[in-house]
Amino acid sequence: MSTDEKTLDWYQKRAEKYTNHVRNPDDAVYHSYYEKPAMYALLPDLKGKTVLSVGCGSGEDSNYLKNQGATKSVGIDLSSELIKIASQTYPNCEFKTMDMEKLEFADQSFDFAYSSLAIHYIENWTQSLSEVYRVLKPGSHFIFSCNHPVRFAAEVVENEDHEIYKVEVFKNKITKEATIIGDYLNKNKIVDVFGENTVNFWHVPMGEISKCIYEAGFLIEQIVEPLPKERMKELRPETYKRLQKIPEFIIFKLLKR
Ligand SMILES: C[S@@+](CC[C@H](N)C(=O)[O-])C[C@H]1O[C@@H](n2cnc3c(N)ncnc32)[C@H](O)[C@@H]1O
Repeated sequence: MSTDEKTLDWYQKRAEKYTNHVRNPDDAVYHSYYEKPAMYALLPDLKGKTVLSVGCGSGEDSNYLKNQGATKSVGIDLSSELIKIASQTYPNCEFKTMDMEKLEFADQSFDFAYSSLAIHYIENWTQSLSEVYRVLKPGSHFIFSCNHPVRFAAEVVENEDHEIYKVEVFKNKITKEATIIGDYLNKNKIVDVFGENTVNFWHVPMGEISKCIYEAGFLIEQIVEPLPKERMKELRPETYKRLQKIPEFIIFKLLKR
C-alpha cells in the first residue's frame, strides 16, 4: 500500500463526517457542480454491465452506476469505515475493503471501471492502473479523475491576509538573482492538503501520468478539464471564477484494446 497511514487514518476517523459532506450537494460543491457532472457525461452505456468503482468512498458513485442499468456494481476502498457506511446505505451494490494497488478480483471480470479523485493518494500509479487493466475485459473503458497537475505545481505564498498560489520566476533586477517559485515537473508529495494533519497527495506531472497510463497498457481516448456548473456561481462565486481559468481536477477516459 502506498497510500500513507496518516491519509488512511484521516478517512477512517472522519468517515461519517466525509459521508455527510458528500451527501449534501450544496456543501460538496466540487463534487456536485464540478467533477461528478463531467465524469457522468463520459459514461458509456452501462446496461447489463459489471462495473467497478475504485476508491469508492461512501458509495454514492457505485449507486449511481448501478442505477444506470449495471447488473452488478462493486465498490472498493481502503477505508473499512467508509465501506461499512456504503454497505449499509446501498445494499443494491457490493462493497469491499481493498487496496487499489492489489485488486482481489480475477482477470477480465469487469466491463467498466471508474475512479473518482482517489489515485492521487498513491505513489505508484502504474501499479494501480495495471491492476484495473488486468481486471477489465478487452474493449472496456476506465474513467478516472484526479488533481490537475497544474493546480499542485503552485507553491503557496502567504501574504498579510491571504494566500497566493504561484508558479513563477522572480528575478531581482539589481542582484540578477532568480528565485523559482512552484515545481511542476517533479513528482512530489503535497503534505497536509486541507491544513494541519489532514491528507497527503502525490503531485504527478502530465508527462508522467501519460507514461503510467501507457505502461499499464491503456490507450487514452479522451482528456477532460471540467468547467463548473451555474449553481457553483450562486454558491461560491469566487471558486466559480477561478475554475473558469485554473482547473482543479482532470479526467481521463481510457480504453483497454
Ligand atoms: C476524495 S475520496 C473520494 C471518494 C469517492 N470516490 C467520492 O467521489 O466520493 C478518496 C478515497 O480514496 C480512498 N483511497 C485512498 N487510497 C486508497 C487505496 N490505496 N486503495 C483504495 N482506496 C483508496 C480513500 O479512502 C477515499 O475514500
